[in-house]
Amino acid sequence: MNSEPVNAYKNLMVTGGCGFIGANFIRYLLKESDFSGRVVNVDKLTYAGNPENLADIEKRFPGRYIFEKADICDRERMASLFDDYEIDTVCHFAAESHVDRSIVNPDAFIRTNIVGTFNLLELARETPDRLQLFHHISTDEVFGSLGQDGFFTEETPYKPNSPYSASKAASDHLVRAYHKTYGLPITISNCSNNYGPYQFPEKLISLMILNALEGKPLPVYGDGRNIRDWLYVRDHCIAIWEIMKRGKRGETYNIGGKNEMENIRLVEMICDILDTHQKQEGGRPRRELITFVKDRPGHDRRYAIDFTKLREELGWMPEESLESGMRKTIQWYLDNQQWVNRVRSGEYQTWIKEHYG
Ligand code: NAD
Ligand code: TYD
Repeated sequence: MNSEPVNAYKNLMVTGGCGFIGANFIRYLLKESDFSGRVVNVDKLTYAGNPENLADIEKRFPGRYIFEKADICDRERMASLFDDYEIDTVCHFAAESHVDRSIVNPDAFIRTNIVGTFNLLELARETPDRLQLFHHISTDEVFGSLGQDGFFTEETPYKPNSPYSASKAASDHLVRAYHKTYGLPITISNCSNNYGPYQFPEKLISLMILNALEGKPLPVYGDGRNIRDWLYVRDHCIAIWEIMKRGKRGETYNIGGKNEMENIRLVEMICDILDTHQKQEGGRPRRELITFVKDRPGHDRRYAIDFTKLREELGWMPEESLESGMRKTIQWYLDNQQWVNRVRSGEYQTWIKEHYG
C-alpha cells in the first residue's frame, strides 16, 4: 500500500460534494488548485445536497467532473463506483451535519456517518494497490465543550455531547483504526464552524443572513453567549488540499479560524453589515429582529482550535478574518438571490426529482 504523501491523484472520489463544504472544495480543486486529475462526486442528494451548487463546474470541466447520485451506505453501488472510476483517492465529506436535526432524529446520523464511513473504509481496504489516500473530514465538536480557557489540540480526548458529534467521533475512530490495523493511508481533519457561499440556511450564519434579509425573527438559543470559532469555507478547502498533498499518513490535523465569537455578537454583526447594504423598510435596525429562544439540549458552551500543528508542518494560515469573510458571504447571498429563492422555497428539490428521480 502506498503510504508516501504524493500529488499524483488521478481519480478522486469526493463524497457529499453537493453539500456546502464539498461543493466549495470541488470548486476550489478544479478552479484554483494544482490538482490535475478527475473528480467523481458521489452524493445521495438529501435535503442538504444541491447539484445546482456545481452546475457551472459540470459545464466548464466535462470529463474532469463527474456526478453520481448514490448513497454511501449502499455498499454494492459504491463498490462499482470504486471499480468503474478506478478510484485512487477519497475525500469523505458526506454526512448528516446539523446538530439540531441529530437531536430530533439521530437515525440517519448513525447510518450515514458511521455505517457509511465504515462501508467506504472497507472498499478502500479492498484496493490496496490503487488507493493512495483516504481523507476524512471531521469536526472539532468531537472534543466536547471547553470552559472559558484553553483550546482543542490533536491530543485532546474525545468527549462528544450530541448525537451528531458522537457519530462523527465514531467515524474518526474507525478511520484511525483502519490505518493502525490495516495500514490504510489515511489523514483526518477536525475543523471548526464554517461559513460562506452555498451553505444551507439551517446553520447559524446562513440562517441569520437570510432571515434578516426577509425581516424574520433571528432565533438565538439560550443566553446567546455560546462561543464558536468561525472559519471561512475557502480557507477550510485550502487546508484540506494541503493536508491531502503533504499531510503525514495516519495523522489528524486541527483546522480553525482564530475567530472566536459569542453567538449574540455574531448575529449583531450580521445585522449591522446588512443594515449598511440595504436598510429595512421604515429604516429600523435589524438588531430588533433578534429573539432569544429556548436553549438547545446539551448545547456546547465553547469551541476553540489550536492549529499550531497545521501551521508548523504545512504552513497553513487562514486568509480571511471574520469581518472580511462575513462581508464576502453576505455579498454572495445578496448576489445569488435565485439560489436563495430556490433553496428557501424547496424548488431545488423539485428540480432534483425531475433530473435524478
Ligand atoms: P452538508 O449537510 O451541507 O452536506 C452534506 C452532503 O452529504 C449533502 O450533499 C448530502 O446530500 C450528502 N449526504 C448525506 N448523506 C449521504 C449519504 N448517505 N450518501 C451520500 N451522500 C450523502 O454538510 P457540510 O456542512 O458541507 O459538512 C460536510 C462535512 O464537513 C461533514 O462531514 C461535516 O461533519 C464536516 N464539518 C462541517 C462543518 C460545518 O461547519 N459545516 C465543520 C466541520 C466539519
Ligand atoms: P450551528 O450553526 O447549528 O453549528 P454547531 O451547532 O454545529 O456549532 O450553531 C452555531 C451556534 O449557534 C450554536 O451555539 C447554536 C447557535 N444557534 C442559535 O443560537 N440559533 C440558531 O438558529 C442556530 C441554527 C444555531
